[in-house]
Amino acid sequence: MYLCVCLLVLYSFMQSQSEDLMVVGPESSLVAIAGEDLILPCFIKPNTSAVDMTVEWFKLDAGFSKVHFYDDHEDRNEDQAQTYQGRTLLLKDELKKGNASLKLYAVRVSDEGEYKCLIEDKSWSDDVIVRVIVEVRGSHPVITMESYDNSGGINLVCESRGWNPKPEVLWLDREGAPLSAEETQIHKDTEGFTVKRRITVHDYSDSNKFYCRLQQIHHMMETEVIINGKVFDNWKLAVAISALACLFTTGWIVTAVISRKKALQRRRVEDELAAMGKFAEPQRQKVKEELAELKSYAVDVTLDPDTAHPRLRVSEDEKQVTCEDSPQDRHDTTQRFNKCVIVVGKRSYSRTFYYEVQVSRKTQWILGVMREDINRQGDITVTPQNGFWTVEMRKENEYRANAGRDIRLTLIERPVKVGVYVNYERGLVSFYDVEANSHIYSFSDQSFTKELFPCFSAGLNEGGKDSAPLIITVVND
Ligand SMILES: *[C@@H]1O[C@H](CO)[C@@H](O)[C@H](O)[C@H]1NC(C)=O
Ligand SMILES: *[C@@H]1O[C@H](CO)[C@@H](O)[C@H](O)[C@H]1NC(C)=O
Repeated sequence: MYLCVCLLVLYSFMQSQSEDLMVVGPESSLVAIAGEDLILPCFIKPNTSAVDMTVEWFKLDAGFSKVHFYDDHEDRNEDQAQTYQGRTLLLKDELKKGNASLKLYAVRVSDEGEYKCLIEDKSWSDDVIVRVIVEVRGSHPVITMESYDNSGGINLVCESRGWNPKPEVLWLDREGAPLSAEETQIHKDTEGFTVKRRITVHDYSDSNKFYCRLQQIHHMMETEVIINGKVFDNWKLAVAISALACLFTTGWIVTAVISRKKALQRRRVEDELAAMGKFAEPQRQKVKEELAELKSYAVDVTLDPDTAHPRLRVSEDEKQVTCEDSPQDRHDTTQRFNKCVIVVGKRSYSRTFYYEVQVSRKTQWILGVMREDINRQGDITVTPQNGFWTVEMRKENEYRANAGRDIRLTLIERPVKVGVYVNYERGLVSFYDVEANSHIYSFSDQSFTKELFPCFSAGLNEGGKDSAPLIITVVND
């Protein structure tokens, strides 16, 4: 009898202690980026050690997949769902503090959904649901001119695929103000969401520049289109999508003349900063590790003075190039670029390679690689179609990827050193801000059949204001 009473007392004591305990999680859905790590928060409140309890994480999908199981002081993941194997971590030190948050490595699109964090003690149990959305950035938006409108306008359509969740699609004028457009058409398939949005634009005299912007919480992409006034006037269907020509073709000048408002620029950067802020640090760490690996492919690039445009001066050690005010008297050969202010490296490659170029103090540059068989005479439009995979700085704070359609890049910091990585087999050319440990841009899914030369443009040095050299630096591990 005594024993019985004693047990009852003990039991009710445990009850009252446990009754106040609660399992809590995040208030809203978590938005993760595919490929990055994610913490699924789950805590006992008030903080009580969960070391002696059972912690069970599972996904509320059709099969109630076991994500992670902790019991009797150990992880017991024998029947963990296959997709989570080796991808979860529950820190025992954190459990002591009542923190049963689960770390999930390299988030996949299939990880999207609802998770239950269930904590059990002998006399008590509680759970919380954690919702996860996995953001995937889709393809760069493509703007197509569809038809001529009866009212004298032009019908444009902006399209992009492979997004998750569906992005917001906006048409903007040159000042970045939203324009009214048709309803966005949304279609979902195995690749994610495909979005399409049409607009009819009219001739606004000098400002026929429009942007199509796709936006998620952590991602933003933009494409711009410039429509020459003559297209409206002459009733002709020729859209001048601002294809990036080499610095010196007239096309570029037309584009450059249209100056941008600083405010717009600032807002873009702010948008992007806000969007990236939360994930900036883990992202940097990841890029840092990635770069450390890429650096093992470093090659010793030297410049070939015999290929340099007459305005370019290559230093004695063949590691630096500057742009002179006037052309130098140089022997003209088919090797030499005679119109585009470009110089290439001495060696070409058909394997994976990496090099770094210091770009500090410059306001214009083009960096990347070029196919060996390019005709170096006359105007060249630097696009992948024409055998160039390049990124450029056009002026203060304006960066572009020369992808054949205009891709504006938003860089948070002005790069000091740019790393160029080419994976020949995989058809990949990637650019990195080496000091900031950030990824700038990648051309992926390309197909290389010819050798590739590193190529460089030191800008135009207009008014002698951009006389600093581009410097090929030694890659430090
Ligand atoms: C609960 O939190 C407080 C303050 O954060 C800390 O001092 C205390 O040790 C924690 N209790 C347990 C059981 O971890
Ligand atoms: C809870 O644990 C995770 C690791 O699983 C950790 O990243 C997080 O910072 C911890 N949260 C708190 C509030 O201590």
